[in-house]
Amino acid sequence: MKPEITTWQEYQAAYKESIENPSNFWSKIAKTFYWQKEWTNVCSGDFSDVNIRWFDGGILNITENCLDRHLAERGDHLALIWEPNDPTEKMHGVRKYTYRQLYEEVLCCAQMLQKLGVQKGDRVCIYLPMIPEILICMLACARIGAIHSVVFGGFSAASLAERINDSDAHILITADSAFRGNKEIHLKEIADKAIQNAPGIQHCIVYIHTGCAIPWVEGRDLKYQDLIAQTTAECPAVPMEAEAPLFILYTSGSTGKPKGIVHTTAGYMVYVGYTFRNIFQIRDDDIFWCTADVGWITGHSYLVYGPLLNGTTVLMFEGIPTYPDPGRFWQVIQKYKVTIFYTAPTVIRSLLLEGTSYLEDKDLSSLRVLGSVGEPINEEAWQWYYKHVGKERCPIVDTYWQTETGGIVISPIANITPTPPCYATYPLPGIVPAILDSYGKEIALNSLKEPAEGTLCFKQPWPSIARTTFRDHARFKKVYFEEYPGYYLTGDNARYEPTTGMFRITGRMDDVLNVSGHRLGTAEIENAINEHEAVVETAVVGYPHPIKGQGIYAFVICDRPFSSSEDLLKSVQQLVSEKIGPIAKPDYVQVVPGLPKTRSGKIMRRILRKLLEGATPTQIGDTSTLLDPAIVESIFEGLLLKPKAV
Ligand code: WT7
Repeated sequence: MKPEITTWQEYQAAYKESIENPSNFWSKIAKTFYWQKEWTNVCSGDFSDVNIRWFDGGILNITENCLDRHLAERGDHLALIWEPNDPTEKMHGVRKYTYRQLYEEVLCCAQMLQKLGVQKGDRVCIYLPMIPEILICMLACARIGAIHSVVFGGFSAASLAERINDSDAHILITADSAFRGNKEIHLKEIADKAIQNAPGIQHCIVYIHTGCAIPWVEGRDLKYQDLIAQTTAECPAVPMEAEAPLFILYTSGSTGKPKGIVHTTAGYMVYVGYTFRNIFQIRDDDIFWCTADVGWITGHSYLVYGPLLNGTTVLMFEGIPTYPDPGRFWQVIQKYKVTIFYTAPTVIRSLLLEGTSYLEDKDLSSLRVLGSVGEPINEEAWQWYYKHVGKERCPIVDTYWQTETGGIVISPIANITPTPPCYATYPLPGIVPAILDSYGKEIALNSLKEPAEGTLCFKQPWPSIARTTFRDHARFKKVYFEEYPGYYLTGDNARYEPTTGMFRITGRMDDVLNVSGHRLGTAEIENAINEHEAVVETAVVGYPHPIKGQGIYAFVICDRPFSSSEDLLKSVQQLVSEKIGPIAKPDYVQVVPGLPKTRSGKIMRRILRKLLEGATPTQIGDTSTLLDPAIVESIFEGLLLKPKAV
């Protein structure tokens, strides 16, 4: 499908219409998709009632849009290319699927689920590595109206169990194990541990990927390949109401347990399909590579749904950027003549440190557009990406969005709108940003003379905004809509430049960490560490990290001696790996005599953050609200990380 926006004027006109007359605008876009029955009402609800609905009355199935409709003209066009972890292809060969082949695989998988009794509205938990089956299983769920809940393969058994239980899934799909670089991850073993605490699971479907030895529970465990062998590629697309949930994806916030963010069918489809083809300016023969794991929203929207909705060829890579050497990504781009490459700043920063020798012998001339996602991209990484990867020919689209927004909300449009370094630039059609000052008052952006920074919010619903948190609408309202009534609160700070009208995202304003593009809540990590036998209380904060963006630093109060700080660090890391997953392990654990608390008992993480950024106790500002201001000095004395002075 062709991008609608092809000039700057068209962007402006589309934006204007989308805000002034959203119904007109989005119904035109929605007509580029296939509906079993068209909608009767384009949009209703707002950020005060938080009952947002798009394309009400419409009946559709997203898989007919991702697969069936391409068969006539693009049936033999490649839908998916899978590059294995091992470049010598000894373990696994490359796998390629045309749209017709993918369609057949999905139908078999959907029939398999149906035979196991999965029905419309049931939740299916998918805990798979980066192999084609993860995408096939997601689409198979959508085919029969089941709600997929993908859990990132890096999460621990405890996290997996928590997500299975919260979503009340009865089927879990996993694999025996997976390779990532030199490491083997035994997913089935983790799944087994999770199921011990997730009694609702009736069947565990296991895709045999590496053939390693695995524990087996007769009756409960079923081999994916055996089940598929008993199916045929027949499964009608179940008619879905526009607002039927499509998937749940868990994400971290500043407090409490991860939230099951719910996205619904039609609005998500329309917005993700539209933003994909326009932002990246998709052409018929593109090879699009998104390096994100399917277990995160980037993988859902721009590896699975966005490309397939548009009939694009998407590349999925099982491995990591540094295996067998730091030239792997560039080698893969050369091998498949990738035209659009979409990755995270943390990847760029880690490859930048390896120098340019790994790039120089690769042919990257196929590249046309580069993308960045997941965290603010710093100037150095941006310049390196632009110069050495894009050879100063390819625009970089710095795409800002969140799990909750469903699709990209602030971003340049490749080759059409400007791409200054480190700016997400302009809102996409349908998106009305607002910046609130420290009193929560909206700053009037159109009368500004100087740049302004504050809390980034959105003022009006767009089709792919999350509808709720699974079975807890009160929590959804509280987290995103209560503090600033009438606005959707992103949790990020942004800066607005009145001369250009551009936005620059400056980072989270809440207790959410962004470690190598992974979103983690400080509260979750603190809760895990508090279970350590020596620890009575913990405060976790992020600190600036040259590659990961943020590193994790834990301040702990202990009530008993332990052998050495090295042992304490190791045992805390071990505990966090078990409770959440290796991605949440703290880099430092500092034992402190107390934490900086207000008289009402709230930990002032801001003070701890400032110390880690290089401030001395006299530079951190007013500490008079602290119960014990002297504690700051002793924490400072014991810092394990000596930051460069600010
Ligand atoms: C948070 C959302 C949706 C993309 C994957 C992450 C940060 C995301 C950018 C960007 C600056 C960014 C924000 C946001 N973020 N993209 N281009 N520039 N910051 O999804 O896990 O829901 O995390 O990632 O802080 O709130 P997520």
